Amino acid sequence: MEIREVAVVGLGTMGAGIAEVFARAGLGVTAIEADAEALRRGLSTLDASLSRAVSRGKLDAREQSEIRARVRLGGGFASAAGVDLAIEVVPERLEIKRQVFAELDRVCSPDAILATNTSSLSVTEIAAGTRHPGRVVGMHFFNPAPVMRLVEVVSTVLSREDVPAIVADLARRLGKTPVQVGDRAGFIANALLLPYLNHAVGLLETGYATAADIDTAATAGIGLPMGPLALLDLIGLDTSLSILEVLYREFGRPRYCPAPLLRRLAAAGRTGRKAGRGVHEYAGARRTGPASAEQNEAGYPAPDTVTLIGAGDEHETALATALASAGMNVTRNAAHPTELVVIVAEASQQVLPAALAAGRPDQAVGLHLLDGLAPGSLAELVRTSLTSDKSMLAAVGLAARLGLAVVRAPDRPGFLVGALLYPHLADAVRMVEDDYATAADIDAAMMLGCGYPQGPFQLLDAAGATDVLVGLRAMYLAYGFPSFAPPPLLAEHAAAGIDFAGVGHRRAGPAGPATAG
Ligand code: 3HC
Repeated sequence: MEIREVAVVGLGTMGAGIAEVFARAGLGVTAIEADAEALRRGLSTLDASLSRAVSRGKLDAREQSEIRARVRLGGGFASAAGVDLAIEVVPERLEIKRQVFAELDRVCSPDAILATNTSSLSVTEIAAGTRHPGRVVGMHFFNPAPVMRLVEVVSTVLSREDVPAIVADLARRLGKTPVQVGDRAGFIANALLLPYLNHAVGLLETGYATAADIDTAATAGIGLPMGPLALLDLIGLDTSLSILEVLYREFGRPRYCPAPLLRRLAAAGRTGRKAGRGVHEYAGARRTGPASAEQNEAGYPAPDTVTLIGAGDEHETALATALASAGMNVTRNAAHPTELVVIVAEASQQVLPAALAAGRPDQAVGLHLLDGLAPGSLAELVRTSLTSDKSMLAAVGLAARLGLAVVRAPDRPGFLVGALLYPHLADAVRMVEDDYATAADIDAAMMLGCGYPQGPFQLLDAAGATDVLVGLRAMYLAYGFPSFAPPPLLAEHAAAGIDFAGVGHRRAGPAGPATAG
């Protein structure tokens, strides 16, 4: 069965993007919205995206008008009567989805496929309410739909056998990579992504770090394409909240429990880019908002003299050389009066004991280098409970003189990058432990759906299972949150010294360990 004509119901940010993807691939698209105003807004999102592609030289004007001509404005559900596939992209509420499916079920031919772009709701429940549940599947796109390559194809126990394969073929024709998944809340990507985003809101809410620093820790520290708070603004805080609520109801794990600040921002209408304000502020696609503390501090001068305290290893020597080359006088003598005491910080070690030992804890700042001293690399500036504001500013100046990007972090396990990353990696390991998905599928989903340059298991292998384990243990000891408890599978990999890449994790069945295939 070749899908040629589709209907897209709901033209919000995601729906408009999905309509664009279909039209670009040469399919006829019937766009259906609740009212004329919503339809107009959706089409203007689609037009803006096409114009942007033209201005970037990705499309010419003729292609733009051909694509646009394939999108027809539907006059209500009846206009979906002749389509081969209808996909709904309406808000994440089961009762709304069910209403839409009831209408589609009524007007579409019994051969047509009905798809939901739900991010987390049960496709089975949606299907069960229709007359032909065999033709109902999930077809889950990622934001921005024209860019992200993953499509999760969700089948249910009710799905007709041929339907997921037809939808997967369609996804390939759209230039996407389909991944077949079962009907479990959040499927693969959202089940892993959303608790990480939620945790980032928690860090902001508790004053652990600033919004700008949290986002920089993810981009410059982990290498992700966007920071978690900027990504929440892209997805929509309201949508993210709905997904978390479903995940929390389904699994009951505290990491899914929406951070109160997320609820407040969504309730206040600060739903993200689409509203011009979410965690950050926007004018169109551009980030605006008041100058952050970080920007104000950017011009702060580097100190003339620095005391350097480290383990006497090559990291300390490299740092001493870099400081001297940047024109700062460096001493290792803690008694020598200098403007700043720089403690070379190790990932899972507290800075405070070294700061106290140096005798001038108010002047001591931990410096944790994530990736050496290459220009633009990230340094975490670690503040103990005794560090003065002046010393933090001096450390910002020092890092700027060295050409390093910085984030400020409290003297807590993981500092900031680890505090974001370690629990995220633990979640990924638990998904494998629970037989939710394989490590390879999780890596593929996060790379194709969320633009990760490396999947979580590749990140974990690169960081080293032992280091991640040590970091998590320290976090668990400090906070006692069950979600920070290191998963046994991680401990096993650390003990055995083996990577996750290429290891198929299948649980042993009654007949012994299962083999792949
Ligand atoms: N619509 C269409 N195209 C867009 C776009 C949009 N909203 N935003 C960016 N693009 C295109 C640009 O035109 C550009 O195309 P080109 O390479 O052909 O010129 C390309 O994407 C890169 O854009 P930019 O250079 O402007 O910006 P970046 O390089 O910073 O990339 C990004 C932007 C692609 C959004 C990147 O930051 C990214 O991958 N972010 C992660 C997004 C993510 O995680 N999405 C998944 C969220 S979860 C989800 O959606 C599931 C749901 O159920 C909640």
